[in-house]
Amino acid sequence: MSEWLHDLFSGRPWWMNLAMVFCGFMAFVYMPWDIFWKPVEADQEVWFGVMFTGWAAKLAAVPHWFVYGALAYGFRRRRSWMRIAAPLYSAQVAIGMLLWPNFQYGSWTGFLLGLISGLPFAFLTLAFWNARDHFVHKRGSLRERYGDWAVITGASAGIGLEFARALARDGIHCVLVARRREKLNALATELKEQFQVEVRVEAADLASPDGPDQVADAVADIDVGILVNNAGVGYAGRFDKQETGRLREMVNLNCVAPVVLTSRLLPGMRDRGRGAMIVSGSVAGRQPLPLHGIYSATKAFDLHLGEALWAEMRADGVDVLVLEPGPTLTEFQQAAGELPHEGASASSVVNAALDALGQQPSVVAGWWNWVRANLASRFGSRPLVAYVARHIMERQTPEEMR
Ligand SMILES: NC(=O)c1ccc[n+]([C@@H]2O[C@H](COP(=O)([O-])OP(=O)(O)OC[C@H]3O[C@@H](n4cnc5c(N)ncnc54)[C@H](OP(=O)(O)O)[C@@H]3O)[C@@H](O)[C@H]2O)c1
Repeated sequence: MSEWLHDLFSGRPWWMNLAMVFCGFMAFVYMPWDIFWKPVEADQEVWFGVMFTGWAAKLAAVPHWFVYGALAYGFRRRRSWMRIAAPLYSAQVAIGMLLWPNFQYGSWTGFLLGLISGLPFAFLTLAFWNARDHFVHKRGSLRERYGDWAVITGASAGIGLEFARALARDGIHCVLVARRREKLNALATELKEQFQVEVRVEAADLASPDGPDQVADAVADIDVGILVNNAGVGYAGRFDKQETGRLREMVNLNCVAPVVLTSRLLPGMRDRGRGAMIVSGSVAGRQPLPLHGIYSATKAFDLHLGEALWAEMRADGVDVLVLEPGPTLTEFQQAAGELPHEGASASSVVNAALDALGQQPSVVAGWWNWVRANLASRFGSRPLVAYVARHIMERQTPEEMR
């Protein structure tokens, strides 16, 4: 509890913490009461100094609720849009406070009341404007934070390949792991030439019983600062139409391999007092996903594994992050046997992960994916969510596998 409170309030000036608590109170306590319990005839809302009453006030309270929710989230996660949103909202309140008593009481009384109530918010606006750099997230050097070497699984394609590029760009030496040696060799040449880093290639089948240990043995002579457990596959289709062997391989690759590799490499990070482990989960892990049932179960496993380790390892200086991409344009769809569909770029997904590393236990890449993942997992009833998910997955699954 005390660690959570420290986490919640550290790194922000006290007055900004107060603003965050106020916005949280408004979003979670006052606005729900105002909208759902307060009698309509007693309702009043002020926007830009204009007073709304009755049903108009009830309606005007809905965007107010949204704004407070967004501001509380923005303070908590230091979102860059808060550079504008915080001073803008505070300025809006200042203007409202300044104008409203003038409309209400007129003459000098209204003017003085407006000045007294509006000035503190004008100062707050100025303070937010001056502190806007607080919301510029500086990632800093990953090499300085975590160490010289990274192990990246699934580096021969897609998200893993982009992780390798991003880490090498930061001067980090890379161990590239996947089955296709020729792809890894080509990437190794690219990284060495472009970023002058050392690169090792470890071709291994991480779904095999010995694969993860083989990789851990191969890197035993280096201090691994960052482990990216990214290799993973999907397998689209109805459970009773899927092959048992392929299902077993998917569970081994998506679940067993990250457990073994983390178990072998994390103690070294703990002993050195610094390190990072990223595991590629998926928004598919947030809810049951019919026609991708075992895949979504493996990604729920990754989510719980990573978030639990995040809380366990923080005090030892090891940052853990679960990356939850939505659909991403890589080889994944083809390998999983899905029908082609739109997706984000792998580099944008990797950027989201590296920005969030050390800040939070998990990150959903892309705001629309975040909305969908949270709406479904937090507000939907479980049967409804499963049915809707099935409907969506049908569009991505070949007919013979539905
Ligand atoms: N793309 C998406 O829409 C999406 C969405 C959510 C989450 N994710 C997750 O993101 C991660 C990366 O996926 P991606 O989109 O980059 O897919 P990808 O382009 O298909 O890449 C998968 C990587 O995993 C490696 N791999 C597959 N089987 C392996 C095995 N048995 N042993 C060792 N390596 C193996 C592949 O290399 P080799 O074939 O050379 O072995 C490849 O490097 C996965 O965990 C996936 O579940 C992807």
